[in-house]
Amino acid sequence: MKILVTGGAGFIGSNFIRQVLALGKDYVIVNYDKLTYAGNLENLDDVAKNPAYSFAKGDICDAAAVESAMNGCEAVVHFAAESHVDRSIYEPAPVIETNVTGTFILLQVARKLNVRRFVHISTDEVYGDMDAGAFADENSPLQPSSPYSASKASSDLLVRSYVRTFGFPAVLTRASNNYGPYQFPEKFLPLMITNALDDKPLPIYGDGKQQRDWLHVEDHCRGIVAVLERGRIGEVYNIGGQDIVENLTMAKALLRVTGKPETLLSYVKDRPGHDRRYALKCDKIERELGWKPTISLEEGLRQTIDWYRSNTKWMARVRDGEYRSYYEKYYENRDSSLHAIAQTGPKPSL
Ligand code: NAD
Ligand code: TYD
Repeated sequence: MKILVTGGAGFIGSNFIRQVLALGKDYVIVNYDKLTYAGNLENLDDVAKNPAYSFAKGDICDAAAVESAMNGCEAVVHFAAESHVDRSIYEPAPVIETNVTGTFILLQVARKLNVRRFVHISTDEVYGDMDAGAFADENSPLQPSSPYSASKASSDLLVRSYVRTFGFPAVLTRASNNYGPYQFPEKFLPLMITNALDDKPLPIYGDGKQQRDWLHVEDHCRGIVAVLERGRIGEVYNIGGQDIVENLTMAKALLRVTGKPETLLSYVKDRPGHDRRYALKCDKIERELGWKPTISLEEGLRQTIDWYRSNTKWMARVRDGEYRSYYEKYYENRDSSLHAIAQTGPKPSL
């Protein structure tokens, strides 16, 4: 089966491609990616010469280019997105453009080309803050808090409308916070790991008592394969690690494992609109598709820390690129920058 994977040069997409090619089935992958700051083809160096893999550079908002890449594909697995909450606060326009308009264009082209299956990759953030003790199931209300999560919820609703209105063969996944190799170091875990390894401060937003459910990216990708192969059309499947941890506890654990002192913890102003807790109920994917997470947080963290320790060249090249100026602009001065933007309102670039 020939599959168009959008956003395959990013963190989860590249892990997914590697995993699918290693299955030894008859999958042929076309990786369609714009190569934004988060897209890094080095993530796929080891499969670049695999005859079942090819890459096409392009924007999901460009209908003609999407059509030429999707032509002949039976399935689409749609990862491409602007995926970072903080960036969506600094500059929402590209987030809305890619996540909403881009998804719309993919749906239109996939309908035109009679694609047989469309897997839309979404997030637990669409459910918003969960009260202590509460868990979101697939029917919970969508209550997104950030421009990022609102854009993901919007694209989920568009996909669902295509199923209902046009009988479009889509299925949706909503996963919790992923971690693992090749994650761009703007997200919490890779930022904390690489800062700890470099003896730099670990910036903790607010009181650090926000909770996230951590899912190893390889477990997530196994879940996506199950949904691609056996998920019921029109259905949503939550995919969570079921390992809910406070940010501060996580940062302290990373310091322990890396052998660094807690004096590196640095409390900074909270993210505006920051969701306190995410928590997913994942009975459905376990019951229907037999999926559950297999990598414990302890083991996964150890492996991930080892990966960043052994891949310093990858990290150095990532830091030399756009990431560095982004880091300097916002992350070394975050107390003032994020809040100034949230309070005075961004200057729209539209
Ligand atoms: P990422 O930021 O690492 O990668 C995104 C990829 O999309 C990059 O390769 C980028 O170049 C590409 N891209 C961005 N805009 C594009 C455009 N207009 N056209 C074509 N390609 C474009 O993101 P990720 O963490 O791998 O997340 C992948 C998907 O999974 C996203 O849809 C995200 O919402 C979802 N998700 C992520 C997490 C997580 O914890 N990272 C959790 C749940 C769901
Ligand atoms: P993040 O990786 O941005 O994922 P999300 O906000 O989409 O869940 O952040 C995970 C958690 O870590 C979130 O509660 C915000 C917090 N955080 C920090 O405390 N410091 C940081 O520097 C970053 C990037 C995140």
